[in-house]
Amino acid sequence: MRVLLTGSAGFIGSAVAAELRSHGHEVVEFDAYLPSAHGDSSGVRRDVRDGYALDEALKGVDVVCHQAAVVGAGVDALDAPAFASHNDFGTAVLLAAMARAGCTRLVLASSMVVYGEGRYRGADEVTRSIADLRAGRFDPLSDAGEPLSWEVVPEDAPLRPRSFYAASKLAQEHFALAWTRTTGGSVVALRYHNVYGPNMPRDTPYSGVAAMFRSSLERGEPPRVFEDGQQMRDFVEVSDVARANRLAVESSVSGFEAVNVCSGRPVSILEVASALSSAVGGPQPVVTGEFRPGDVRHIVASPAKARDVLGFEAGVAPRDGLAGFATAPLRATTGHTRPTV
Ligand SMILES: NC(=O)c1ccc[n+]([C@@H]2O[C@H](COP(=O)([O-])OP(=O)(O)OC[C@H]3O[C@@H](n4cnc5c(N)ncnc54)[C@H](O)[C@@H]3O)[C@@H](O)[C@H]2O)c1
Repeated sequence: MRVLLTGSAGFIGSAVAAELRSHGHEVVEFDAYLPSAHGDSSGVRRDVRDGYALDEALKGVDVVCHQAAVVGAGVDALDAPAFASHNDFGTAVLLAAMARAGCTRLVLASSMVVYGEGRYRGADEVTRSIADLRAGRFDPLSDAGEPLSWEVVPEDAPLRPRSFYAASKLAQEHFALAWTRTTGGSVVALRYHNVYGPNMPRDTPYSGVAAMFRSSLERGEPPRVFEDGQQMRDFVEVSDVARANRLAVESSVSGFEAVNVCSGRPVSILEVASALSSAVGGPQPVVTGEFRPGDVRHIVASPAKARDVLGFEAGVAPRDGLAGFATAPLRATTGHTRPTV
């Protein structure tokens, strides 16, 4: 198949490009080489907000795999316009261009952040008060004041974004869903959980926690773990994410389907930090008890629908993948660069 791959120069996009090519697909690369992601290094800049560039790139394309986005939790409200512009306006321009080109299939990189907090047994919606966090009561509490247990999050869980980035990822899904209804096209929205692997961007406020731990270890410092380190996540290796994308590109899904992309083997943040420290013989992590009020406590995905809809099961267990990641190359960044509109 001929696949237009946006965000093709990025951490995940470059792995998707290699995976598609190794399975005989033709890849049309498309990336704006944002300075916030790539510093001064650049290739041919093509922006998803440029409908003319998309009209050219979409010629003969069977399916679009849309990875391009401004990523990360962001720092403050000044980041909101960049998220809205690249992620939401960009997706709207892309969907219009696909309609012009008669291209009816989209694979969309979405994220676990659309859920907000994870799911807890016996509670519909939970909040954590600052007073509880200050007192070291990190698990959300029941009405009776007991710590709640987490459960896996299925795709039909409530969607409650908590950051501008999360809001922009959910809006991408909503634009894509509306596009399927308007055009009859099909969308697979892949909700990636914590992705890690070679070429992940280095330590910035916009990069993932695994890269931050690695950067601490490279400085000879122990990884600093917030709360009590028992926050549960699902870490999925980038080669598995690339394969999920290929399976979605090759699938015959109709309408709109959202699918978790995860390893199905949850780990605590302290386990992640310890695995990285041990793999390089570095200092063991320090559990600081510090907290960030916006953070979610546990977010663990159900892998069931990805298996049913795409035939996807992760091949890399976090224990093995994190050991390999501990010494994998990271992508240089320019430091704390705020994304521009
Ligand atoms: N890394 C994760 O853990 C994770 C988790 C969930 C979802 N995602 C999603 O996966 C996708 C890829 O993320 P990544 O981690 O590879 O980030 P990345 O920053 O490495 O890659 C994103 C790429 O998109 C490009 N880009 C941004 N705006 C663009 C625009 N307007 N036009 C063209 N190209 C543009 C950037 O230059 C960059 O190369 C994103 O949609 C992100 O939201 C990532």
